[in-house]
Amino acid sequence: MRGLVGKRVLISGGSSGIGHAAARRFLQEGATVFISGLDPAEVTTAVAAAKQDLTAPSEVFGVACDVTREEDVARLVSTAGQTMGGIDVLINNAGVSWREPFLEITPQHWDEMIAVNLRGMFLVAQAVSRLLIDQGRGGAIINMSSTNGIAGEADYAHYNASKGGVLLLTKTMAVELGRHGIRVNAVCPGYIDTPLNAGISADLGGAAFVSAYARDNIPLGRIGRDFEVAAVYAFLASEDASFVHGAEIVVDGGQLALM
Ligand SMILES: NC(=O)c1ccc[n+]([C@@H]2O[C@H](COP(=O)([O-])OP(=O)(O)OC[C@H]3O[C@@H](n4cnc5c(N)ncnc54)[C@H](O)[C@@H]3O)[C@@H](O)[C@H]2O)c1
Repeated sequence: MRGLVGKRVLISGGSSGIGHAAARRFLQEGATVFISGLDPAEVTTAVAAAKQDLTAPSEVFGVACDVTREEDVARLVSTAGQTMGGIDVLINNAGVSWREPFLEITPQHWDEMIAVNLRGMFLVAQAVSRLLIDQGRGGAIINMSSTNGIAGEADYAHYNASKGGVLLLTKTMAVELGRHGIRVNAVCPGYIDTPLNAGISADLGGAAFVSAYARDNIPLGRIGRDFEVAAVYAFLASEDASFVHGAEIVVDGGQLALM
């Protein structure tokens, strides 16, 4: 991808799954990467693993952060900015998901989902946007939505609502931040093989469930891989996407195309 060498990339939720694949991809592209995640031990392990992909002059750093806590988010963005000498790209990726029928969702569970996936995404996006404007050099923000932000999968009402909210957060940010040279886009993956989904599918029947689901619901006949989403993150952050703004890119093996 053009224009990623030397870019300073902050990845929330970069300690696992898609975010970790993104860290590795940006390092392979010659960027410097700062990852965060909820669990300090997971962040330490992820930074050590990502160092395997270092190419001069890139570097990788990390710190734990709970995106639901404003003081954590402020510390994350200032630490990442100071450590890398600024931020050029935000991969706003941290999120959670669990299954729960609509009629059984408690207000507490609703709030927990929204707190991470929508409020947390807003907090990180706003803090980084303010820094990008102060720096005066523009930048790129990519927010993680989902195919569940476009269509309503059963048993995920709170998750679907959070990811739908991310899409309109993204479009509004694009409208307000374009004049600062900050491009804002969203990614909408379908079913991707990550620790998050491994936990969910284990409860539904494991590998047999996954292969039957892919056969019946995904025209490419398989679920996606973390690096296939990371590649879209890299494209949207790169100069190759210089006129892509306020958009969402679906990465789902054709699932939303199926009637
Ligand atoms: N896996 C999929 O099929 C899929 C599909 C569409 C969208 N997504 C989205 O992609 C993103 C990454 O998911 P994944 O599948 O890689 O999951 P994952 O569980 O492997 O990784 C989630 C990451 O988010 C971090 N995180 C969770 N809660 C946090 C909090 N409160 N504060 C800070 N960090 C927190 C974790 O530490 C971890 O680094 C999520 O936003 C998810 O909703 C995933």
